[in-house]
Amino acid sequence: MNNRPRLTVIGTGYLGATHAICMAVMGYEVIGVDVDATKIARLSEGEVPFFEPGLPELLTKALESGRLRFTTDFAEAAEFGDVHFICVGTPQRPGSEAADLTYVDASVTELARHLTRRALVVGKSTVPVGTAARLTELIHSTAPAGDQVELAWNPEFLREGFAVDDTMKPDRMVFGVTSAWAEEMLRAAFAPVLAQGVPVKVTDLQTAELVKVAANSFLATKISYINAMAEVCEATGADVHDLAEALAYDERIGGKFLRPGLGFGGGCLPKDIRAFAHRAEELGVGQAVGFLREIDGINRRRRARTVDLVVELCDGDVSGKKVAALGAAFKPNSDDIRDAPALDVAATLARMGAEVIVFDPAAMDNARRQHPELGYGDNAIDAARDADVVVLLTEWTEFRELEPAAMTAVVRQTKIVDGRHALDPVKWRAAGWEYRALGRP
Ligand code: UDX
Repeated sequence: MNNRPRLTVIGTGYLGATHAICMAVMGYEVIGVDVDATKIARLSEGEVPFFEPGLPELLTKALESGRLRFTTDFAEAAEFGDVHFICVGTPQRPGSEAADLTYVDASVTELARHLTRRALVVGKSTVPVGTAARLTELIHSTAPAGDQVELAWNPEFLREGFAVDDTMKPDRMVFGVTSAWAEEMLRAAFAPVLAQGVPVKVTDLQTAELVKVAANSFLATKISYINAMAEVCEATGADVHDLAEALAYDERIGGKFLRPGLGFGGGCLPKDIRAFAHRAEELGVGQAVGFLREIDGINRRRRARTVDLVVELCDGDVSGKKVAALGAAFKPNSDDIRDAPALDVAATLARMGAEVIVFDPAAMDNARRQHPELGYGDNAIDAARDADVVVLLTEWTEFRELEPAAMTAVVRQTKIVDGRHALDPVKWRAAGWEYRALGRP
């Protein structure tokens, strides 16, 4: 059994669906479980319910292999699996900075109720440090098999848009375990991944939980660092774009996650740094990560400052002005609009009285649902028709490749705010556009 454990994946969102599909493609027998019957029906029919390059093809392949199926039945999953991965969401709790563990607690409880033999439950969700210890107690007191069931923690670092690659060949794996058996089971569950030479860090549960939030906090800090430099650049006439490039040549600093602009959003970085700061305060070490609140503050200011630039280009008043908003997703190659800086800016401008027309290559349905008050175009050119200002908010390749002349033909005024430093200012200025970007003269 240890050579090829049978796997279940509880929670079939971005993380879980990708994990279930990739593990089946790599040769494992997998059941994906979710309480959302619609999602399960769509996945069973071969439809990925979100935008992720490469994943639909792999879902087809996995279903055809006969190794992957989906269910809403926890008893069936518990009976089937040797290793159960918990991949449910941990969003920000409404009215608080803390993580909402409702889905983690509910799925672990429901699974444990049916565990009648030795099995390994593996947490992948991002949780506050200490959660695994609490869940261990919960499992032991709930599962008919009692302490025959072990818990391990294996944080997930996948990026949306690169989810398949990040799952099949991650930078590293972290195994938080409390026994040699658990480590052995995890090594068996990830044998094809480890065979590629992917490094593994074996550690305790609490360190494994912390690795994830520490990594995301570092990434958020790096982005906010360069955006803080952009604020200083704005006060001095310096160019943050050149500054970032010059810093990046230092290998100790590196150029990744040093792209200035509108800042970070999405379902992970913003809520993870808030939940981490909150948890640290509970533990009495709030001061140690107090800087994360500043990181969050710098990031929020980028959105406000982008709105300011649009207002400036509208001579101080956006009411009645037409603004073309290019991008809605929190980053390119995704249809995810959770805490999306782009939509935040678009909605703020609309509240200030502007007529905002949004276009995004993938996130239109999600954006329309959340922001029915905004206008929507059929493409970038359509959105820009009669615009007083164009504002680029998500750096999709098709926006990077826009020809100024094509836009000039449709807009009312040739004014553009490049919220993502995605365009060539020389080219746009040469074509007669007033070009503005955060942190650039
Ligand atoms: C992130 C982590 O990268 C991943 O390891 C973790 O598992 C989940 O959270 P993701 O949310 O998919 O992944 O997006 P990521 O590519 O990290 O981008 C996050 C945000 O930062 C985006 O809004 C992006 O536009 C922004 N960003 C990124 C910048 O503003 N500047 C940069 O230099 C890099």
